Amino acid sequence: MQNIIAALEEKRAEARLGGGQKRIDAQHAKGKLTARERLDVLLDPGSFEEYDMFVTHRAVEFGMEKTIIPGDGVVTGWGTVNGRLVYVFSQDFTVFGGSLSETHAQKICKIMDLAVQNGAPVIGLNDSGGARIQEGVAALGGYAEVFWRNVQASGAIPQISVIMGPSAGGAVYSPAMTDFIFMVKDTSYMYVTGPDVVKTVTSEIVTHEELGGASTHTRISAVADAAFDNDIETLLEVRRLVDFLPLSATVKPPRLATNDSIERSEPSLDSIIPASAAKPYDMREVITRVADEGDFFEIQKEHAGNILVGFMRINGESVGVVANQPLVLAGCLDINSSKKAARFIRFCDAFSIPILTLVDVPGFLPGVAQEYGGIIKHGAKLLFAYAEATVPKVTVITRKAYGGAYDVMASKHIRADVNYAWPTAEIAVMGAKGATEILYRSELGDREKIARRTADYEARFANPFVAAERGFIDDVIMPRETRRRVARAFETLRHKKAVIPAKKHGNIPL
Ligand code: HXC
Repeated sequence: MQNIIAALEEKRAEARLGGGQKRIDAQHAKGKLTARERLDVLLDPGSFEEYDMFVTHRAVEFGMEKTIIPGDGVVTGWGTVNGRLVYVFSQDFTVFGGSLSETHAQKICKIMDLAVQNGAPVIGLNDSGGARIQEGVAALGGYAEVFWRNVQASGAIPQISVIMGPSAGGAVYSPAMTDFIFMVKDTSYMYVTGPDVVKTVTSEIVTHEELGGASTHTRISAVADAAFDNDIETLLEVRRLVDFLPLSATVKPPRLATNDSIERSEPSLDSIIPASAAKPYDMREVITRVADEGDFFEIQKEHAGNILVGFMRINGESVGVVANQPLVLAGCLDINSSKKAARFIRFCDAFSIPILTLVDVPGFLPGVAQEYGGIIKHGAKLLFAYAEATVPKVTVITRKAYGGAYDVMASKHIRADVNYAWPTAEIAVMGAKGATEILYRSELGDREKIARRTADYEARFANPFVAAERGFIDDVIMPRETRRRVARAFETLRHKKAVIPAKKHGNIPL
């Protein structure tokens, strides 16, 4: 018996060593943790249960039968994050560069199936040279099996991808179909074709980092939702995100006990709106002053800064916040901000996370580039996502809500449930200056007259009361009371029921 137990331990130790000490050292030398060390950081201590540690590949081409490594380049199983179940896979770069073989794919598919069946998130730690070249189509088939499961699981369970090394070729499409992608600065990159192929085909010369590093994907392409300095920080941030999310679409997000009373008043909000309408202020401050303990988990912070999206809690409950940011492009809606917010809203709606919208929007960004780029279709994504969302929606207009952007930003008309405005709100078709220049074009030569007309328009329309008279705004609230009023509004919506017409699925303007 002792021998058998010792043999098991030996087998386990062999599997734990992956591609061997030399390759582990090389991984460390690059500033990266190994696949197992990463799971130690991600999961609660002692919670990891590994599956398929003894799985090996079955390839025989190119002498592969001589190199058999138990586990086959990916560590899979389940564990807990702050006591809540998550399924995980962690690719082991020390084994064939973390490349995906047929059996490596089967291991990932097994835990994806269990995650869907048991209603828990999947967190994938990616560090892979892509399809295992020696296996050809068997590896490609393996990827496609993962892709198919990504789509089946979408909207059923949260899927989170962490890119912690290479992710190249078609392999990028599995993370791309998950809900969130996190990257590690300097050590991770994602691209469909690498710098060499790019040079051959387009003559462009770029480094790995320029083409597909964290900075590229968090700022320019928006493929990634956030990037952090190293493996440890990244994994700890993933833990923080998991705390905001429900385990699946059939259960509510967790409620976290808080000492931050909903009665907390924020007098500083009464003076946050500058006297001049042309002056910006930081909407992030409004968010953090409304949120429990000022905690805001921002998504896509580096991209489309004219809109802010992310998670906060109010009275311990997760809330997705979408807010125009006057500090960037005056808070205008454009292509990138529309896409960013639309995707976030759809995630919240899929997973029963109520949405708070803070509005200060002068309109859609004008310009040839925007029109050529398809702002019509992309802006419609945001409108569609808001109108389609049936989760509780509370809206607060802090200042401008002009034109079509008023309608789009969770107005009452597209079925926000509770709409508030601060006394500083200006809800109109457009700003006073633009409006008078159109209405009184013939008087443009007379400065005094135009100034009078503008003042008159401002007095009549640059306020929340015209909308409040029609019931489009439920109440005009004191800024300092925002937290309390929003918390109480969400409380009334806890058992909201929405009816949607029978259909297979809508056709969002993709
Ligand atoms: C088999 C692979 C591999 C792969 C790396 N290795 N990628 N083995 N299949 N795809 C092995 C290497 O041979 C090497 O083995 C070890 O992993 C470490 O790789 P290095 O090249 O030494 O590491 P590094 O210099 O850090 O470079 C990493 C890399 C490079 C940039 C990822 O290995 C690389 O370019 N690999 C190929 C990438 C690729 O083209 N993959 C296919 C993409 S297409 P030894 O024994 O020497 O240590 C794809 C299709 C998906 O994935 C289809 C979905 C539809």
